[in-house]
Amino acid sequence: MSSDDLKRQAAEQALNYVEDGMKLGLGTGSTAARFVELLGAKVKAGLKVVCVPTSEATRAQAAALGIPLATLDQYPALDLTVDGADEIDDELRLIKGGGGALLREKIVAVASERVVIIADSSKRVDVLGRFPLPIEVVPFGLTATERLIAGVAADAGCEGEIKLRTGPNGAPYVTDNGNHILDCFFGAIDDPEALDDALKLVPGVVESGLFLGIADIGIVAGPQGIEVLSAEETDFDEET
Ligand code: A5P
Repeated sequence: MSSDDLKRQAAEQALNYVEDGMKLGLGTGSTAARFVELLGAKVKAGLKVVCVPTSEATRAQAAALGIPLATLDQYPALDLTVDGADEIDDELRLIKGGGGALLREKIVAVASERVVIIADSSKRVDVLGRFPLPIEVVPFGLTATERLIAGVAADAGCEGEIKLRTGPNGAPYVTDNGNHILDCFFGAIDDPEALDDALKLVPGVVESGLFLGIADIGIVAGPQGIEVLSAEETDFDEET
Protein backbone atom coordinates (compact mmCIF):
# COMPACT_ATOMS: atom_id res chain seq x y z
CA MET A 1 0.00 0.00 0.00
CA SER A 2 1.43 3.40 -0.97
CA SER A 3 1.85 6.24 1.52
CA ASP A 4 -0.76 8.13 -0.47
CA ASP A 5 -3.26 5.29 0.15
CA LEU A 6 -2.46 5.45 3.85
CA LYS A 7 -2.93 9.23 3.94
CA ARG A 8 -6.29 8.76 2.27
CA GLN A 9 -7.32 6.11 4.79
CA ALA A 10 -6.49 8.42 7.69
CA ALA A 11 -8.39 11.24 5.98
CA GLU A 12 -11.44 9.01 5.47
CA GLN A 13 -11.45 8.13 9.16
CA ALA A 14 -11.30 11.82 10.12
CA LEU A 15 -14.53 12.43 8.20
CA ASN A 16 -16.30 10.51 11.00
CA TYR A 17 -15.66 13.48 13.29
CA VAL A 18 -17.40 15.93 10.93
CA GLU A 19 -21.03 16.81 11.60
CA ASP A 20 -23.53 18.85 9.64
CA GLY A 21 -23.38 22.53 10.55
CA MET A 22 -19.81 22.45 11.87
CA LYS A 23 -17.25 25.21 11.54
CA LEU A 24 -14.05 23.49 10.45
CA GLY A 25 -10.37 24.34 10.25
CA LEU A 26 -8.65 22.87 7.21
CA GLY A 27 -4.98 21.93 7.53
CA THR A 28 -2.18 22.13 5.01
CA GLY A 29 0.01 19.52 3.31
CA SER A 30 -0.50 16.40 1.25
CA THR A 31 -2.41 14.49 3.95
CA ALA A 32 -4.71 17.38 4.80
CA ALA A 33 -5.28 17.77 1.05
CA ARG A 34 -6.72 14.23 0.93
CA PHE A 35 -9.16 15.24 3.67
CA VAL A 36 -10.15 18.39 1.78
CA GLU A 37 -10.82 16.30 -1.34
CA LEU A 38 -13.09 13.93 0.59
CA LEU A 39 -14.81 16.83 2.34
CA GLY A 40 -15.43 18.43 -1.03
CA ALA A 41 -17.29 15.32 -2.17
CA LYS A 42 -19.42 15.38 1.00
CA VAL A 43 -20.24 19.06 0.46
CA LYS A 44 -21.26 18.29 -3.10
CA ALA A 45 -23.56 15.60 -1.69
CA GLY A 46 -25.23 18.11 0.66
CA LEU A 47 -23.10 18.40 3.83
CA LYS A 48 -23.34 21.91 5.29
CA VAL A 49 -20.07 23.17 6.78
CA VAL A 50 -18.09 26.38 6.74
CA CYS A 51 -14.32 26.15 6.67
CA VAL A 52 -11.30 28.24 7.62
CA PRO A 53 -8.18 27.25 5.64
CA THR A 54 -4.70 27.34 7.21
CA SER A 55 -2.89 28.40 4.03
CA GLU A 56 -3.45 30.03 0.69
CA ALA A 57 -2.79 26.63 -0.94
CA THR A 58 -5.58 25.00 1.06
CA ARG A 59 -7.85 27.98 0.41
CA ALA A 60 -7.37 27.52 -3.34
CA GLN A 61 -7.98 23.76 -3.18
CA ALA A 62 -11.13 24.12 -1.05
CA ALA A 63 -12.51 26.96 -3.17
CA ALA A 64 -12.03 24.89 -6.33
CA LEU A 65 -14.05 22.09 -4.71
CA GLY A 66 -16.91 24.43 -3.82
CA ILE A 67 -16.36 24.20 -0.05
CA PRO A 68 -17.81 27.27 1.71
CA LEU A 69 -14.98 29.33 3.19
CA ALA A 70 -14.73 31.98 5.88
CA THR A 71 -12.04 33.75 7.82
CA LEU A 72 -11.08 33.07 11.43
CA ASP A 73 -12.24 36.60 12.23
CA GLN A 74 -15.72 35.70 11.01
CA TYR A 75 -15.66 32.45 13.02
CA PRO A 76 -13.12 32.81 15.84
CA ALA A 77 -14.28 29.61 17.57
CA LEU A 78 -14.20 26.48 15.42
CA ASP A 79 -15.68 23.06 16.18
CA LEU A 80 -12.99 20.92 14.62
CA THR A 81 -9.70 21.20 12.76
CA VAL A 82 -8.25 18.35 10.72
CA ASP A 83 -4.58 18.67 9.83
CA GLY A 84 -1.48 16.60 9.06
CA ALA A 85 1.86 16.48 10.88
CA ASP A 86 5.51 15.85 10.15
CA GLU A 87 5.97 13.87 13.36
CA ILE A 88 3.68 12.58 16.06
CA ASP A 89 4.73 10.93 19.33
CA ASP A 90 2.90 8.75 21.86
CA GLU A 91 1.70 11.80 23.78
CA LEU A 92 0.26 13.42 20.64
CA ARG A 93 3.05 15.97 20.59
CA LEU A 94 3.80 17.07 17.04
CA ILE A 95 6.33 18.67 14.76
CA LYS A 96 4.59 20.63 12.02
CA GLY A 97 5.60 23.19 9.44
CA GLY A 98 7.27 21.07 6.78
CA GLY A 99 4.86 22.76 4.37
CA GLY A 100 5.56 26.19 5.85
CA ALA A 101 2.07 26.83 7.24
CA LEU A 102 2.80 26.28 10.93
CA LEU A 103 1.75 29.71 12.22
CA ARG A 104 -1.74 29.72 10.71
CA GLU A 105 -2.05 26.02 11.51
CA LYS A 106 -1.35 26.70 15.18
CA ILE A 107 -3.66 29.73 15.36
CA VAL A 108 -6.50 27.77 13.76
CA ALA A 109 -5.88 24.63 15.85
CA VAL A 110 -5.86 26.55 19.13
CA ALA A 111 -9.14 28.24 18.11
CA SER A 112 -10.75 24.81 17.64
CA GLU A 113 -12.64 22.78 20.20
CA ARG A 114 -11.17 19.58 18.81
CA VAL A 115 -8.05 18.94 16.74
CA VAL A 116 -7.72 15.72 14.76
CA ILE A 117 -4.32 14.92 13.27
CA ILE A 118 -4.13 12.56 10.31
CA ALA A 119 -0.93 10.85 9.19
CA ASP A 120 0.58 7.78 7.64
CA SER A 121 2.68 5.63 9.94
CA SER A 122 6.00 7.08 8.67
CA LYS A 123 5.20 10.09 10.89
CA ARG A 124 5.04 8.08 14.15
CA VAL A 125 8.11 8.52 16.31
CA ASP A 126 9.17 7.64 19.86
CA VAL A 127 11.05 10.92 20.26
CA LEU A 128 10.43 14.10 18.25
CA GLY A 129 13.29 15.55 16.22
CA ARG A 130 14.21 13.24 13.37
CA PHE A 131 12.36 15.76 11.19
CA PRO A 132 14.09 19.18 11.33
CA LEU A 133 12.09 21.53 13.53
CA PRO A 134 10.71 24.48 11.53
CA ILE A 135 10.68 27.85 13.27
CA GLU A 136 8.94 30.84 11.68
CA VAL A 137 10.97 34.02 12.18
CA VAL A 138 10.58 37.62 11.09
CA PRO A 139 13.02 38.65 8.33
CA PHE A 140 14.40 41.60 10.33
CA GLY A 141 17.49 40.65 12.32
CA LEU A 142 17.54 37.11 11.00
CA THR A 143 21.16 36.37 11.90
CA ALA A 144 20.76 37.70 15.44
CA THR A 145 17.59 35.64 15.85
CA GLU A 146 19.35 32.53 14.58
CA ARG A 147 22.18 33.03 17.10
CA LEU A 148 19.71 33.46 19.93
CA ILE A 149 17.79 30.36 18.87
CA ALA A 150 21.02 28.33 18.87
CA GLY A 151 21.81 29.59 22.37
CA VAL A 152 18.44 28.92 24.01
CA ALA A 153 18.13 25.58 22.21
CA ALA A 154 21.53 24.50 23.56
CA ASP A 155 20.36 25.43 27.06
CA ALA A 156 17.35 23.18 26.46
CA GLY A 157 19.64 20.32 25.38
CA CYS A 158 19.30 20.73 21.60
CA GLU A 159 22.18 21.43 19.25
CA GLY A 160 22.56 21.09 15.50
CA GLU A 161 22.63 22.89 12.19
CA ILE A 162 20.10 25.66 11.66
CA LYS A 163 19.31 26.32 7.99
CA LEU A 164 17.34 29.12 6.40
CA ARG A 165 14.71 27.45 4.22
CA THR A 166 14.92 28.42 0.57
CA GLY A 167 12.39 28.17 -2.24
CA PRO A 168 12.83 26.53 -5.65
CA ASN A 169 14.67 29.60 -6.97
CA GLY A 170 17.18 29.53 -4.11
CA ALA A 171 15.80 32.70 -2.48
CA PRO A 172 14.64 32.55 1.16
CA TYR A 173 11.26 30.87 1.46
CA VAL A 174 8.50 33.34 2.39
CA THR A 175 5.51 32.15 4.40
CA ASP A 176 1.92 33.25 3.80
CA ASN A 177 2.60 35.75 6.60
CA GLY A 178 5.67 37.29 4.94
CA ASN A 179 8.16 35.61 7.29
CA HIS A 180 11.03 33.14 6.85
CA ILE A 181 11.56 29.63 8.23
CA LEU A 182 14.64 28.27 9.99
CA ASP A 183 14.85 24.48 9.86
CA CYS A 184 16.65 23.19 12.97
CA PHE A 185 18.44 19.85 12.66
CA PHE A 186 18.56 19.13 16.38
CA GLY A 187 17.99 15.40 16.28
CA ALA A 188 16.21 13.94 19.32
CA ILE A 189 14.31 16.61 21.26
CA ASP A 190 14.22 15.01 24.69
CA ASP A 191 12.32 17.83 26.38
CA PRO A 192 10.05 19.48 23.80
CA GLU A 193 8.29 21.60 26.46
CA ALA A 194 11.60 23.10 27.66
CA LEU A 195 12.65 23.85 24.08
CA ASP A 196 9.30 25.42 23.22
CA ASP A 197 9.37 27.59 26.35
CA ALA A 198 12.90 28.71 25.51
CA LEU A 199 12.06 29.56 21.90
CA LYS A 200 9.15 31.74 23.01
CA LEU A 201 11.70 34.04 24.72
CA VAL A 202 13.43 34.93 21.43
CA PRO A 203 11.87 38.16 20.10
CA GLY A 204 12.35 37.35 16.39
CA VAL A 205 10.64 33.97 16.71
CA VAL A 206 7.03 34.10 15.58
CA GLU A 207 6.20 30.44 16.31
CA SER A 208 7.84 27.07 16.45
CA GLY A 209 6.61 23.91 14.76
CA LEU A 210 6.27 22.19 18.14
CA PHE A 211 2.57 21.57 18.73
CA LEU A 212 2.33 20.52 22.37
CA GLY A 213 -0.97 19.86 24.10
CA ILE A 214 -2.88 20.92 21.00
CA ALA A 215 -3.92 17.68 19.27
CA ASP A 216 -6.87 15.77 20.73
CA ILE A 217 -6.97 12.78 18.38
CA GLY A 218 -4.29 11.23 16.16
CA ILE A 219 -5.32 8.94 13.31
CA VAL A 220 -2.29 7.09 12.01
CA ALA A 221 -2.74 4.74 9.07
CA GLY A 222 -0.15 2.00 8.57
CA PRO A 223 0.15 -1.24 6.61
CA GLN A 224 -1.17 -3.14 9.66
CA GLY A 225 -4.23 -0.92 10.14
CA ILE A 226 -5.26 2.34 11.73
CA GLU A 227 -4.00 3.45 15.14
CA VAL A 228 -6.11 6.04 16.96
CA LEU A 229 -4.35 8.07 19.66
CA SER A 230 -6.40 10.10 22.09
CA ALA A 231 -5.18 12.91 24.35
CA GLU A 232 -7.78 11.96 26.95
CA GLU A 233 -6.37 8.46 27.20
CA THR A 234 -2.87 9.90 27.43
CA ASP A 235 -3.96 12.13 30.37
CA PHE A 236 -5.65 9.14 32.00
CA ASP A 237 -2.53 7.03 31.64
CA GLU A 238 -0.45 9.74 33.24
CA GLU A 239 -2.79 9.98 36.22
CA THR A 240 -2.88 6.25 36.99
C1 A5P B 1 2.34 22.22 6.82
O1 A5P B 1 2.96 23.37 7.25
C2 A5P B 1 2.67 21.10 7.74
O2 A5P B 1 2.48 21.35 9.09
C3 A5P B 1 1.98 19.84 7.33
O3 A5P B 1 0.83 19.59 8.07
C4 A5P B 1 2.93 18.75 7.52
O4 A5P B 1 4.12 19.18 6.90
C5 A5P B 1 2.46 17.44 6.95
O5 A5P B 1 2.50 17.48 5.57
P1 A5P B 1 2.28 16.18 4.70
O6 A5P B 1 0.90 15.70 5.01
O7 A5P B 1 2.42 16.67 3.28
O8 A5P B 1 3.35 15.22 5.08
